[in-house]
Amino acid sequence: MSIITYDLLIRRGKLLGLTSRDEVVDIGIKDGQIADIAPKLEASAKQELDAQGQLVSPPFVESHIHLDSALTAGEPRWNESGTLFEGIQIWGERKQNLTIDDVKKRAIATLKQQAAQGVLLVRTHADVSEPQLIALQALLEVREEVKDWITLQVVAFPQDGIYSKPENETLLEKAIKLGADVVGGIPHYELTREDGVRSVHRIFELAQQYDCLIDIHCDEIDDDQSRFLEVVAACAIRTGLGSRVTASHTTAFAAYNNAYAYKLMGFLQQSQINFIANPLINITLQGRTDTYPKRRGVTRVKELWQQGLNVSFGHDCIQDPWYSLGTGNMLDVASMGVHVCQMTGRHEIDACYEMVTQNGAKTLHLEDNYGVAVGKPANLIVLDASDCYEAIRRRATVRYVISQGKLLTCTTPQATEWL
Ligand code: FE2
Repeated sequence: MSIITYDLLIRRGKLLGLTSRDEVVDIGIKDGQIADIAPKLEASAKQELDAQGQLVSPPFVESHIHLDSALTAGEPRWNESGTLFEGIQIWGERKQNLTIDDVKKRAIATLKQQAAQGVLLVRTHADVSEPQLIALQALLEVREEVKDWITLQVVAFPQDGIYSKPENETLLEKAIKLGADVVGGIPHYELTREDGVRSVHRIFELAQQYDCLIDIHCDEIDDDQSRFLEVVAACAIRTGLGSRVTASHTTAFAAYNNAYAYKLMGFLQQSQINFIANPLINITLQGRTDTYPKRRGVTRVKELWQQGLNVSFGHDCIQDPWYSLGTGNMLDVASMGVHVCQMTGRHEIDACYEMVTQNGAKTLHLEDNYGVAVGKPANLIVLDASDCYEAIRRRATVRYVISQGKLLTCTTPQATEWL
């Protein structure tokens, strides 16, 4: 019998779910796919990596980021109030100077930063409230240019609202025609509650007309009267779009009274929509008008998860007018989620890891091609950690990133020497 030759062979990797460091497997990769997984593969390979009994995981999924504004913190000025709304004003000034080249350079630099830390699936929002649609065009070009090493989805996101200016509705539809994958919205920032409701209905119409997914910035405010989530759930139930729909942020859900929240939870379960919380940004931007007690401003992640709804975590911003920090590391995001959502139980920490991996893939509707299993595309990472609890606790280095069957990056963990 001839010995198989793989393109890449990972020796002694510990898959998620395996409990002991001794329970390791070899993973054979050929033609961009995972060809075999077994405790010991009798095979040769063009390239071999030793995982040394450490965690082999599917890649991180960044389900919510704004690549068009990334790396612009301080331009033209710093957000001194730290609020969402000063951030929108500053971005309104910065976006007057956008060029295709400017957006592409920053987006690709950010994607490289993310990929080196194990992120291989990304959903970015592109502001389509600007008349030239520069951010959108640039990010569509980036989507094409990076497709050999990272999968990018682009959301047509009307940052200033669909009805705040007469041309915005047309711009949103034009952005979808140009090739956006997802229709976005921001109902809580429309001029009136009625406009907000109307905007949600329009988003659903467009998604059905152009066969797009939906991802709405929904109730990103501490106002307990901001109740567009119920409108999104109702539209998802009536249209049957369900899991094709995502409500991002929903921070007001944390401020609702429990009687209303309990009723709403039943409708959410009926709707089967996805949720994205952005713990780093929510804890920073929300609660700014509170004195004390000061709200955490993060949606009811634990309760949604307990009810079986799909929740993922996003980074949202990296060095932009809303958040001047961030490196694109999804373990930072998961760690903040553990803290701010009080998900410190052993299974809850594991769930937070799922929120930056498989749950994100589900939100992006890419779960069929996701996971470390025979027959799947060979997208996987090897971490400097024995399991996902250790990975989050230590914000472990991603030692190897394998994308589409090829070794993309290799990072040496920091080592301290006592002298
Ligand atoms: Fe966002």
